[in-house]
Amino acid sequence: MRARSIIILLAVLSVFSISCAKSSSEPTKNIYRSTGTVKSIDRSTAKVTIDHKDIPGYMTAMEMAFAVARPEMLDGLMPGDVVAFELERSGSTSTITKIDKTGETIAGSEIYKTHCAVCHGENGGGEKRGIPLISGHALAHNEEEYIKQVENGSPGKMLPFRDKLSPDEIRAVVKYVREEMQKGIDRNAGHKH
Ligand code: HEC
Repeated sequence: MRARSIIILLAVLSVFSISCAKSSSEPTKNIYRSTGTVKSIDRSTAKVTIDHKDIPGYMTAMEMAFAVARPEMLDGLMPGDVVAFELERSGSTSTITKIDKTGETIAGSEIYKTHCAVCHGENGGGEKRGIPLISGHALAHNEEEYIKQVENGSPGKMLPFRDKLSPDEIRAVVKYVREEMQKGIDRNAGHKH
């Protein structure tokens, strides 16, 4: 009985030491992931400035220039592109090792934050000066009606964005409201008027 428990103990210890040895022999590479909007590109120094979201475990959202591992990684990137990227940190330097366009060319979420959140609230709850976009009759209207609303506004209530935002930007912000903000919300809960 006693011998058996010693054997079990030894077995446990050896597994433990193997796993310790394995992890300590690997170089410590810290990889972080986030998304953001490309602000500018400097091909001569292989740097890209990204207005990025929080980089979990590393830094909060901010606009910052990052070096990329290879200059070719910047091929095809343009300011305004929305990107998902991977950042490798060793010591005090961090380098982007992977960067991909997410397919959006204009970040609807950024337009929303800049132009709409002041009235409709950060998450569309309408807690500021606007009406909610995630409940009530806002749910019942279709995409074209949203585009018209943003283009034309409502006299005395919401300013028109026709001259402030391009048609593509209006489409992008409407897409963001309808596909991200209202995601999972039952449209039938809204009522038309
Ligand atoms: C100055 C405050 C203000 C700003 C800025 C603003 N809105 Fe509005 N919005 C309103 C108000 C107030 C209404 C309700 C208008 C009405 O009752 O006719 C409204 C209505 C709407 C509606 C129609 C909702 C419904 O129930 O039919 C949509 C969609 C909308 N806004 C989207 C946006 C978007 C997208 C932006 C940013 C590009 C924006 N708004 C910016 C105040 C604002």
